Amino acid sequence: SPKLKTKYFGKKIVYYEKVDSTNTAAKKIADQGAEEGTIVVAEEQTGGRGRLSRSFLSPFAQGIWFSIILRPTFPPMEVSKMTLVAAVALTKALRKMGLIHCGIKWPNDILVHDRKIVGILTELNASVEKINYMVMGIGINTALTKKVLPRDLKKTVTSFAIENVPVHRSELLQEVLLQLEHYYTVAQEQGFAPVLEEWKMLSCMLGKDVEVSLTDHTFTGKAVDLDENGNLVVETANGLEKVLAGDVQVRSV
Ligand code: BTN
Repeated sequence: SPKLKTKYFGKKIVYYEKVDSTNTAAKKIADQGAEEGTIVVAEEQTGGRGRLSRSFLSPFAQGIWFSIILRPTFPPMEVSKMTLVAAVALTKALRKMGLIHCGIKWPNDILVHDRKIVGILTELNASVEKINYMVMGIGINTALTKKVLPRDLKKTVTSFAIENVPVHRSELLQEVLLQLEHYYTVAQEQGFAPVLEEWKMLSCMLGKDVEVSLTDHTFTGKAVDLDENGNLVVETANGLEKVLAGDVQVRSV
């Protein structure tokens, strides 16, 4: 069991050998009043979920699959910024563990040499005015090998093992929780601006050409900035376009 340096993130841990999705399990206990900072960890997920209703590969012991319950005081409309905060914390933690080349792909994937190593899925229980709770699900590929990757993921997914960076899951989880707690506290106490500035420094996307797929059309341009609401600013032939974190797909071209 990890020796935690955090004040309250991960002080309560619910552990599963196997579960459908740690996000689903975390929502259940959050509904029953689980405290902020409680985490649900699993060795294996049989129904790991990703953004845009995709599935998320989470084989036994090959990564850290966990969810954390948060009860932030900011209004529900700030939630998309919260996932940017998580991306900053994760990137810091991964770099500290030796994965120096990782960077953030908007809004919150973490890539190494264009391949995904971390995915974040945030789910919310809120009314219009108030967040009841937020479940932030994080998947980090550690021991995942090329062999277990389906053909379509071989070129788009990586892991610590594939990158030849040795890591211990318990040490990595400790560092992740420490960074998450730090940036979450900064965001709650000082607002999002300082964290969004760090996001820009850690992004591997700004300055690059991107293709943005919205539900009804696709356009290309250059990702030039992140605005104060966490939207991606893309320079196109018709001027600046703001892309909201939602049901969009952005890829480098
Ligand atoms: C994405 O890449 O689109 C997000 C992936 C999020 C995966 C994590 S693993 C732990 C938690 N439980 C889930 O079912 N999903 C998240």
